[in-house]
Amino acid sequence: MYMKIRNLIDFNDMSLEEWEELRALAFRIKKAPAEYRDVCKGRIMATLFYEPSTRTQMSFQTAMMRLGGKIIGFSDPGSSSVAKGETLRDTVKVVSGYADVVVIRHPVEGAAYASSLYSHCPVINAGDGGHLHPTQTLTDLMTIHELKGKTEGLTVGCCGDLLNGRTVHSLLRALMRFKGNKFVLISTPELKLPTFVTNELLANGCEIRECSTLEECIGELDVLYMTRIQRERFKSPEDYAKQSGIYRLTSDKMELAKADLAVLHPLPKVDEIAYEVDDDPRCVYFEQAENGMFIRMALLARLVGAERTGRCPAYPLPQKAFCHNARCITNHEKYLPELTKTVDGENRCCYCDSKIK
Ligand code: NCD
Repeated sequence: MYMKIRNLIDFNDMSLEEWEELRALAFRIKKAPAEYRDVCKGRIMATLFYEPSTRTQMSFQTAMMRLGGKIIGFSDPGSSSVAKGETLRDTVKVVSGYADVVVIRHPVEGAAYASSLYSHCPVINAGDGGHLHPTQTLTDLMTIHELKGKTEGLTVGCCGDLLNGRTVHSLLRALMRFKGNKFVLISTPELKLPTFVTNELLANGCEIRECSTLEECIGELDVLYMTRIQRERFKSPEDYAKQSGIYRLTSDKMELAKADLAVLHPLPKVDEIAYEVDDDPRCVYFEQAENGMFIRMALLARLVGAERTGRCPAYPLPQKAFCHNARCITNHEKYLPELTKTVDGENRCCYCDSKIK
């Protein structure tokens, strides 16, 4: 059985029924992985990783291998035709002709959506710049569900680089769809959530509280989502230095927390969690990373095998730059068509979700 969605670019492409079905499948796979070892037999997954990755890439690769499929791809664009100046469109057209599913990670926002316009097979977004990271969200929701038995009615704190952390953007926009979740946003003023996320949370009537320290809110939380300050997204090393090391989860702070707090982290972590805290049973990020493989197995099982498309449509070339976000793919790959959408009454770029002025 295939999913209604063909690509996974944003968690919100998926209905909650589809999510529940996927989650149930991931738990079945986790219980008896060997039963699924031929589900993708004869299928090929291509991983186009234009940006470094350990967990996401390896968990996708092991997921496909455990389903009996094979993998191709690159993790160093310098060793592919990208280094010769090939456009994203050409790379995707060619590779999607070889493979049954394309998994892409790219440093530029909206690159996954752009890829989906030209692909002959399903595209999965494995992180597009500081925008979204939907398969990390699947991992996070699965882990929260496993521990709490639900993904609603929870007080969830997100701490660290809320501005550039794509995992936080995806997770909050997913959690807002479940009833009664409250959000506590812990960051410096410079690293606050971008407006495309905040506006959506507010439009959905979510309760949001902003805090500047962990101490003042850790006691209320059911889930604490710690994140790394995203060094690679800062304009200068000086700007990064001003923000790094401000938030650190220590055993003193854990003493203020509930006995059943769940501390998640998408990993890699740098210095935001003290070494001794790793051994606190409330810290579940290594279990979370393992769940990432099972939920990706479920996703591949559902998407791989979808009908292939023939020639992609000939989109009209844009007349001028239409998105003001310098980090949007449309300002890097100039042939991309002008595609906009209306979200909560706001006109937005389909690629990176920025408001169109
Ligand atoms: C995250 C990412 O790449 O956005 N890592 C991951 O996929 N597990 C988080 C990060 O890099 O900080």
